[in-house]
Amino acid sequence: MSLEQEISKRRTFGIISHPDAGKTTLTEKLLLFGGAIQKAGAVKSSKIKDHARSDWMEIEKQRGISVATSVMGFHYKDVKVNLLDTPGHQDFAEDTYRTLTAVDSVIMVIDCVKGVETQTEKLMEVCRMRSTPVLCFINKLDREGRDPFDLLDEIEEKLTINVRPLSWPISMGKTFKGVYSLYEKKLQLFTPSKTTVEEGIEIADIHSPELDQLVGENYAQQLRADVELIEGVYPEFEVTDYLAGKVAPVFFGSAVNNFGVKELLDTFIRIAPPPIPRATTVREVKPSEEKFSGFVFKIHANMDPKHRNRIAFIRVCSGEFERGNNYYHVRQQKSLRFSNATAFMAQDRETVDEAWPGDIVGLYDTGNLKIGDTLTEGEKMIYTGIPSFSPEIFKEVVNKDAMKTKQLEKGLQQLMEEGVAQLFTYELGKRKVVGTVGALQFEVIQFRLKNEYGATVEFLPQNIFKACWISSTDEKKLHEFIASKQRHIARDKEDKLVFMAESKAWLQMVQDNFPEIKFHFTSEFKD
Ligand code: G4P
Repeated sequence: MSLEQEISKRRTFGIISHPDAGKTTLTEKLLLFGGAIQKAGAVKSSKIKDHARSDWMEIEKQRGISVATSVMGFHYKDVKVNLLDTPGHQDFAEDTYRTLTAVDSVIMVIDCVKGVETQTEKLMEVCRMRSTPVLCFINKLDREGRDPFDLLDEIEEKLTINVRPLSWPISMGKTFKGVYSLYEKKLQLFTPSKTTVEEGIEIADIHSPELDQLVGENYAQQLRADVELIEGVYPEFEVTDYLAGKVAPVFFGSAVNNFGVKELLDTFIRIAPPPIPRATTVREVKPSEEKFSGFVFKIHANMDPKHRNRIAFIRVCSGEFERGNNYYHVRQQKSLRFSNATAFMAQDRETVDEAWPGDIVGLYDTGNLKIGDTLTEGEKMIYTGIPSFSPEIFKEVVNKDAMKTKQLEKGLQQLMEEGVAQLFTYELGKRKVVGTVGALQFEVIQFRLKNEYGATVEFLPQNIFKACWISSTDEKKLHEFIASKQRHIARDKEDKLVFMAESKAWLQMVQDNFPEIKFHFTSEFKD
């Protein structure tokens, strides 16, 4: 098969949702369709439930599960689907942000009872930044949920994206009758079922009396009124708008009942984008270019603390990856040979000899690779669009065992390379402050430093609102700013200048007082 053919049959995507909306259930159903698993219940949830907050075995176990389910590849019809898992727990949102840099599109799951929840809003922001195409699945229609029109309005309002329903529910909860596909003009009658999928009933004209017979007169009337309203309110669905990240097509269903999932998957493989060109520091790279290139979006430390080898997850962006080849590590400016590469098919890891754009390969690494690194066949370019975001919680690291200072340094560095959290080192006094998205990471860091590196630390809460990367076109002004705010200036892992703002109001004041300085909430920015 030619490179072009390999590319055109790949769909690499992630599922995002607020915890409990049904991501794991939907993943499992998709894998069942893909034949990647044989029975329900085979996909372990990758979420860490609240009660496991200080249960370390649970966290360690989850780390194991999350490597196994990090990437689930399967074939469906003629398509190779690569589903990238994202952690459900909001404390691990930074992991999810990074995984979203490696996908070409996203399926967003929303609980019809709860509507749009906070976590979904944040994740959608990341998708919007990258204009990632989003397909929306409104789940749990077997429950008494909110009015579908209200749900659509809420999505448009809270997630700032236009929506276009491609299917429509007939009632909900106890009286849920089914879903009508506006696209294919087919009626899917609801039968609570966990395995079988009924073929839809073709109803080209919803005014046909057949509809009344199938769902009852009242519900048929309601559907006709709803469809009329939809056709009047929402413009025709244009695939190009979806691909540009401007419109999210919406489907309704019930993942646990395997209802509406096949329609979602069938539409997904038809309209979702294959790998597309990606930006680097030098130029845009097309997937169809002969030469291999890719970037690291995730690092997973080995479960065995005695052997510090890790798995780096590489998203192939162009050309063909071949096991055993030497590739150029752009940041370190050296050639590396990867004889041990892993592909991910469902939950099995297997050695891979070749991989194509859109695929993810796992490379065993002893500490050369970190998140954001680019591998090429020699070209000096670095994939962009893999920024760090300002953390939400900040704490100073205090070393409690002076004898283990070296181990602590090493442990911190390696955990940060894995992307567990972000480290900021103050210019004054070299104080080290760790920033995370959630409180749980501090417990994870403390535990892993002790367990894997023998270092003991304590964390001191800091009064910091945001870490802002700073820049200015006026070097002199930048120096003046740094001099006047010395106590609040730190460096990130790449030595970039960061202003640690104590509060929203104070940041606003500083911004007003220093109009020549630009404050950025992500580490990647254009001046
Ligand atoms: P998550 O990964 O997004 O966190 O959600 P997950 O799939 O684990 O689903 C959360 C809960 O919602 C699960 O129930 C799951 O069975 C249920 N669920 C998923 N889809 C539907 C649906 O279409 N209808 C209804 N009524 N429930 C659904 P649980 O009780 O937390 O777990 P379990 O014991 O059922 O596994």
